[in-house]
Amino acid sequence: FHVTWNAEAAEKGGFEHFMLKEIYEQPKAIRDTLTGRISKDNKEVIYEELGWEPADVASIDRILITACGTAYHAGLVAKYYIEQLARIPVEVDIASEYRYRNPLTDKNTLAIVISQSGETSDTLAALKEAKRLGARSLAVTNVVGSSISREADQVIYTWAGPEIAVASTKAYTTQLVALLLLAVYLGQLNGKLDASLREQILTDLHELPNLCNEIFESVDDIKAFARNYGFREDAFFLGRSIDYAVAMEGSLKLKEISYIHAEAYAGGELKHGTLALIEEGVPVIALATQDDVREKMMSNVKEVKARDAVVIGLGLAGDTELEKYVDHTIFVPRADKYAAPILAVVPLQLLAYYAAITRGADVDKPRNLAKSVTVE
Ligand code: G6P
Repeated sequence: FHVTWNAEAAEKGGFEHFMLKEIYEQPKAIRDTLTGRISKDNKEVIYEELGWEPADVASIDRILITACGTAYHAGLVAKYYIEQLARIPVEVDIASEYRYRNPLTDKNTLAIVISQSGETSDTLAALKEAKRLGARSLAVTNVVGSSISREADQVIYTWAGPEIAVASTKAYTTQLVALLLLAVYLGQLNGKLDASLREQILTDLHELPNLCNEIFESVDDIKAFARNYGFREDAFFLGRSIDYAVAMEGSLKLKEISYIHAEAYAGGELKHGTLALIEEGVPVIALATQDDVREKMMSNVKEVKARDAVVIGLGLAGDTELEKYVDHTIFVPRADKYAAPILAVVPLQLLAYYAAITRGADVDKPRNLAKSVTVE
């Protein structure tokens, strides 16, 4: 038993928990996932493992993404990426829902499954169902040789390295990177993505690991929020557009490891129900990284402020306007609209981690949860 403990301590590399170690490994994991996948001149995505021609993409009428948990949230972000950059309609479904709904999948569907472990039984079953219906399939997974990697026609690996903590962190950010590259790749092959935007996105992606490192410099502020609000029983996350998908992931992180009841809402849905729960002192984390929905987001912030919520605004560095509307701010370095969500999740992971620490919860092994769910 003693030996096991020592081995585990060594594996944690000086961090108190695997989750914290894995959060800090994200810059490297992102870099590894990018390596070899962008041409030297930053003009093209190279997905050698896919090797698609324009005709391969022209035959895709629609894309279906299925996954579970955090990987499902990555799928929600991917929908924005692919629809914006390649203009192909994308449907995202929870794997356990997809497999039982007699879905409209056919040979012109590209079925993408996302799974860190490559072993989640519902995701594997969704993949088999999509294949049975004639779809082409593509897996985005972190485990070489996993069941899902073997079942899918083609595979994109995320190079996050082993993820031990139950709560997924570096697998999620590398999934977003791999899926953003895929969206650019699709747009490059079907001609829907303007060459200059393509080059800009790919150039900016190289900066992502450094920008991610910068976030760790403000970890003390995040610890302070966790100490101040870690004993509240409820928290709300608000976002619009891609920020809504990130809000869902932030909310999942918080609830799974700190056991705080957390909900994510699309800003526009607030007044259709959730606003009834906002009262004095309730923490609301408002994401504001997306310029095109910014004004609308600010009006949601005013709505919750008017009910005396404590609002933590999560925005891009230099956003002095956001500071005026909220009680506290967390800034991530300025990045384009596609890279910003990859950065925005990092403070939310840290917030969840330190909230769990504040409450004395078992961070790496939350109650009732498993790293890989291989039963239905
Ligand atoms: C479990 C894990 C989650 C994970 C989900 C899907 O619930 O606790 O962190 O997101 O399974 O796992 P997968 O390996 O398919 O990504």
